[in-house]
Amino acid sequence: MKNIVILISGSGSNMAAIAQTAHKEAWQEKFGLRIAAVISNRADAQGLPLAKSLGLATDLLPHRDFASREAFDAALMARIDLHAPQLVVLAGFMRILTSGFVSRYAGRLLNIHPSLLPAFPGLHPHQRALDAGCTVAGATVHQVTVELDHGPILAQAVVPVLAHDTADTLAARVLTQEHLIYPQAIAKLLQK
Ligand code: GAR
Repeated sequence: MKNIVILISGSGSNMAAIAQTAHKEAWQEKFGLRIAAVISNRADAQGLPLAKSLGLATDLLPHRDFASREAFDAALMARIDLHAPQLVVLAGFMRILTSGFVSRYAGRLLNIHPSLLPAFPGLHPHQRALDAGCTVAGATVHQVTVELDHGPILAQAVVPVLAHDTADTLAARVLTQEHLIYPQAIAKLLQK
């Protein structure tokens, strides 16, 4: 069995899209892939009850309980490694990762970012796309390297920017595409 561990901080809609696609496409039966755990660094993440409602095992590791980024990442690695995952999937996990964390999961650590990378890494990508006058926006699934929101690109989706878009309306349009490309990219990678 190939285990996937998903890390979240917020609403968990990408996590749910991955879980629902895994179920619909019978990843476990066909490819031996299963979501072993969903781990959040925030107790108030709406994705935690959502994961439970989808029948997934959840774990909470509040980063505020740790004195340093290194100490948190070490504890997180220990929790993740309980599942010996083939893939660690960042799905709205809003933490800057230490180089020790990134190198431990090198080649099996994925992220999704709501912009057409390498444009607009970091925070507020939708507002920055609007401010720049972009006519298209989108999302990128990529392998994680030490540099924030960089690394080899696995999948992208493009959406139009419409005349009356706000950051929120644009984010919602991009998110519908995230829910399609993230499960596809994972399946493609793990079926190899
Ligand atoms: C998604 O739009 C994801 O691309 C973004 O956070 C949102 C999480 O939504 N991630 C980043 O900005 C990472 N740099 P979700 O919790 O509903 O999946």
